[in-house]
Amino acid sequence: MIITIDGPAGSGKSSAARALAQRLGFDYLDTGAMYRAVALASLRAGVAPDDLTGLERLLRHLRLEIGPGRVILDGEDVSSLIRAPDVTARASELAVIGLVRRYLAEQQRALGQGRNLVCEGRDQGTVVFPDAACKFFLQADPTERARRRQRELAQRGKTLSLEEVLQAQNERDRRDAERDLAPMMPAADAVVIDTTHLTLEEVVDRLVQEVAARTGAKGPAQDSGARA
Ligand code: DC
Repeated sequence: MIITIDGPAGSGKSSAARALAQRLGFDYLDTGAMYRAVALASLRAGVAPDDLTGLERLLRHLRLEIGPGRVILDGEDVSSLIRAPDVTARASELAVIGLVRRYLAEQQRALGQGRNLVCEGRDQGTVVFPDAACKFFLQADPTERARRRQRELAQRGKTLSLEEVLQAQNERDRRDAERDLAPMMPAADAVVIDTTHLTLEEVVDRLVQEVAARTGAKGPAQDSGARA
């Protein structure tokens, strides 16, 4: 069974998706991390976003493994490196390119094959898993989202002003929402939740209730460990 959670950065979808997967005993897939890993690979290889031939070659040789909370690129654990601001910006640029989207969507469908999976991103409910059992779209006030991102960056030793974070976020939101391919938007059958004034627990409770109502899935009796 596939459950999709889409929405912009800072909407709380990553934490919610991870917690929901744990509650249900499902695996968890962070598809943004896949875009970020390709972005890091392209920066390292010096392949510009408009160099389609170079990108094609890069994707052909890419060895990407998505593990439990870890991203392994060509054998190296890059889980922290892919969160750097230059990688964030490059991931957003690559996300408008059909070649990259098709490659990653194919990988995501393969990863979902025959599994119980909570996957989060921008296009999981609309494009990658249109037949998902349950779809969510999380959103929140832009300033609140920027505040969350600013706190997350501070925890990793990066001090940025709220204005800087908000400006970069607006730019990425615009690119995500306006792109022709798989623009970020709720699927017609998605449950839309505004998390601005909700705690993580409140969001997850809401998700669990919806999943139970729509699919009957209430989670495992004992196993609470999400594996991916
Ligand atoms: O969720 P995130 O910030 O880690 O995502 C990184 C970038 O990848 C962001 O610019 C949006 C893009 N993305 C996407 O276009 N489709 C997805 N399914 C996941 C992420």
